[in-house]
Order: sequence, then C-alpha cells, then structure tokens
Amino acid sequence: MAISSSCPDSSESLLARCAARPLMLSALHAHGIEIQEDAGALASLCRACGLEPNVLLAEVDAAEHRLTEPWRAQPLPALIEHVLLAYHQPFAAELDRLDAALLAARQASAPQALEELRALLAELRAELLEHLAKEEQVLFPWILAPAPAAAARAIRAMQLEHEDTVTLLHTLHGAAVRAFAGSPSDPQVATAQRALAQFERWLCEHLHLEDHLLFARARVRARLAPRLALDRAARRTWCGRCKDARS
Ligand SMILES: [Fe+2]
Ligand SMILES: [Fe+2]
Repeated sequence: MAISSSCPDSSESLLARCAARPLMLSALHAHGIEIQEDAGALASLCRACGLEPNVLLAEVDAAEHRLTEPWRAQPLPALIEHVLLAYHQPFAAELDRLDAALLAARQASAPQALEELRALLAELRAELLEHLAKEEQVLFPWILAPAPAAAARAIRAMQLEHEDTVTLLHTLHGAAVRAFAGSPSDPQVATAQRALAQFERWLCEHLHLEDHLLFARARVRARLAPRLALDRAARRTWCGRCKDARS
C-alpha cells in the first residue's frame, strides 16, 4: 500500500518506506539525499537538504502514476509481456553496461570502495538472475493459470526478495559515494554515477510495477477465482526454490 503524500513522517524506517515504494529510493538519491543508519524522519532529512518533504513525495506519487497508469486497464498477459520485454530481457546487458562504466572510472576512484561496489553488483546480478528465473518459470505461469490462488505464497516470496533488492541498492549507492568521493568532477566518474542512477531508477520501476500493479491485480484475481486445491508437486517445487534461494 502506498504511503499517503499527506504523511511525510512515519514511524517506519526510511529504508522500510523505500522497500514499500522503491521509487522513493531513487528520488532521494536523485536529490543527493543519503539514507543513513541513524537517519531521522523523512521530513527532517529532506529539510536538512533544502527540500520540502511534500515536494519529494509528490514527485514519487507522479512517477508511480506515470509508470502504472498506461497498464492499469491492460490484460494481465500484456502486462507480463511488458515486464519481460522492458525489465527481464535487458537485465544482464544493463548490468554489463553499468559495470563497464564503473571500470572506466577506476583511475579516479578509491580502489577498495570500487572493488566493494563491483562485488555488490556481482551479488545483485546473482540474486536477481535467480529471482527473474523464478518469476518466469513459476510465478508468471501461475498468475496466468485458470486457478491463480496457488500464486499467493509465491507472490509474497517475490515481494520479500524485492525488499532485499532495495536494501542492496541502498548499500550499493553508499559504496558508490565512497568510491567516487575523491573525484566528483572527473568525467568518467560523472558517467559512472549517471549510469548507476539510471540503473537504480530502472530497477526500482521494475519492482514497483510488479509490487503495486501486477501482483496486486494477481491477488485480486486469485480472490475471485474458484478455490481449487494447490497442486502438491508445484508447491513442493516452489518451496524448494525459495529454500534454496535463501540458504
Ligand atoms: Fe520481475
Ligand atoms: Fe520481481
């Protein structure tokens, strides 16, 4: 559920709010606002950077609206095809492009922080490739099946992995700040920072579109579908995949 733009403060941690609304993470970073462990509420963090919190929240609202509205009335198969074409298929190439930009900036970077950044990127690659495969091979076929009630557990598992991805993106951003702090005006560093910001935004759009539109619509469809028994073999397969992924 989206957090109301009329509520700039919340008892939730800011990172938890970004996990619920991934585009908030990229919006904060676009304004040069870093989320620290001991960060206060969104309002005080924004104001410390000269930004009214409601302005930021309105930006996030508008970005979410622009992303989801064209697909709200489209059939689920068309929405899934869009997710596959726009986000799944280009994933490896987008990561390669970002890694190449990071490597090109290595002369102007802090070596240890850059290594940490590239290691985090490799971790993101491994986790996301597994996540995308689970969606393509198990979840999306279940969502489109005649008895989509079986997909509820899988949807929740994917949402938890999305939250982990937001946390990893946050860690990645911090590593990039450390890696490039010494040469902010270097052109290769500027290119790498731009590539990272674009990749983060693109990945956050992917997470938002699934969490707030595809999965939300699939859950509604599951509630409306006849309550058929969960196929035992499919359930074992799914739970095994989740266990493997988390061990
Ligand atoms: Fe996906
Ligand atoms: Fe996903």
